[in-house]
Amino acid sequence: MKPLKGAVLLGQSGGPTSVINASAAGVFITAIDSEHITDVYGAVHGIRGILNEEFYDMRKEDRRELELLKNTPSSSIGSVRYKLADPAKDDTDYKRLLEVFKKYNIRYFFYNGGNDSMDTANKINEFMKNSGWDMRVMGVPKTIDNDLNITDHSPGYGSAARYVATTFMELFHDATVYDIPQVTIVEVMGRHAGWLTAASQLAKELGQGPDLIYIPEQAFDIDTFNRRVKEVLAEKGKVLVAVSEGVQTADGKFIPEILGEIKRDSFGHAQLGGTASILASEVEKNLGIKVRAIEFSLMQRSAAHLASKVDVEEAYNAGKLAVEHAINGVSGKMVGFKRLSSKPYKMEYVLIPLTEAANTEQKVPLEWILPNGEGLTQEFVDYALPLIQGDGGVVYENGLPRFAKLKKVIAPKK
Ligand code: F6P
Repeated sequence: MKPLKGAVLLGQSGGPTSVINASAAGVFITAIDSEHITDVYGAVHGIRGILNEEFYDMRKEDRRELELLKNTPSSSIGSVRYKLADPAKDDTDYKRLLEVFKKYNIRYFFYNGGNDSMDTANKINEFMKNSGWDMRVMGVPKTIDNDLNITDHSPGYGSAARYVATTFMELFHDATVYDIPQVTIVEVMGRHAGWLTAASQLAKELGQGPDLIYIPEQAFDIDTFNRRVKEVLAEKGKVLVAVSEGVQTADGKFIPEILGEIKRDSFGHAQLGGTASILASEVEKNLGIKVRAIEFSLMQRSAAHLASKVDVEEAYNAGKLAVEHAINGVSGKMVGFKRLSSKPYKMEYVLIPLTEAANTEQKVPLEWILPNGEGLTQEFVDYALPLIQGDGGVVYENGLPRFAKLKKVIAPKK
C-alpha cells in the first residue's frame, strides 16, 4: 500500500514504565526522519490531549533530547486513563477525534499503552475506517504488569522485573541483620497478573530473595499466610515476603477491600496499594515481633537506572517498527514479540490484531507456580531471565542521571 502523506500523532496512556519513552523516541525519531511525514505531534495526556486539541510539536525538540528519551523514565508527554464510550451508544468523542484528525491532517496515530489503550486504539481504528478518513492506527505495547495478550512479553516488564529482583537482593541483606526475629513484607505492583511479583524468584534462586511469594493467580488465604510466616520464622528467625498488590481472597476481595471500599479509575480498575501494611499489621497482631511493610510503589516503574538493555532496545524498536509498518500500509495492529528460544534468547517482532491484544489478560501459567507461596518454577526463571539482561544505558552527569529535558512547544491551533 502507498504511504499516506500527513502528520504522525503519538499518545501515551495508562501507568508509566521505565521505557515507555524509549518507544516514544522510536516513534518520534523514525517519523521525523521519514519523507512521508509532514508533522510530528505528541498528544498532551493521550486521548484527552486530542479531544482538547493540545499537541506538542516534536519537530521543535533537539535531537539529543529525543535520544535521551530512551533512558528517561515515565511518560514524558503525559499519560491518561480515559475510557472511550462504546461508539454504538455514544459517538461524541469519536466525532471530535475525527474533526481534530482532519484539521491537523493526522494520517498516523500511535497509542502506547496496555490492555485498555489497545482497546481504545482498536475502537478508534474501526471508527475512522467507517468514517472514510484514510489513516493508520497502530498500538505500541507497554506495561510493567506484562499482561498484554498474545505477545510473549511487553516493554516495561523486563526493566521493572530487574528492579524487583535487584531490590529484593539488596533488601535481603538488610532485613536479616539483627539478632531478633523480623518479618519484612514487600508489595509489588501488578493488578491482576503476578508476573512482576514473580520476578522476585530471580533473587530467591540466588538465596538472597523472599522466602514466600504470593501472586494473584492463586487465591490468597490469610490463615495459610499466617501459618507459613510462623513456620519460616521458626526455621530461620527472619521472613521476607513478596506479595502482589493484586492478590485476592477466594471470594474475590483485594486485601485493602477487607477493610472497606476502595477507589476505582475510569476503567473500573481498583486503585490498589496498602496490602503489605495490612498484612504487616496482621503479623504484628499475631506474633508481636518486629515487622516492616515496604511498597515498591512508583519506584518499580520509574527506576530507569535499573532498566535492562533488552527492554530499552525492544521498546525503542516497537515504536520504530510501528511507524515503519504504518507507512507501509498496516493499520489496526500492535507490534508484539514472539519468542523463538530462551537459551540463547531469540525473538522476532510480530504484528498482532488490536482486537486480540486488547481483550484478554495474560496471566502467569498455573503450572509455573509452586504451592504454599514457595515461589515459581524453572520455566518462569527461563522465561524472565533473558528480559532483564544488560544495562539500560542511562547517561550520567555529575553523578546523576541526565534525563531528557523537552521544550514541550505547544503546536499552534489550526
Ligand atoms: O499500568 C499498570 C499499573 O502500574 C499497575 O501495576 C498498577 O496497579 C496501576 O498501574 C497503578 O495505577 P495508577 O498509576 O493509576 O495508580
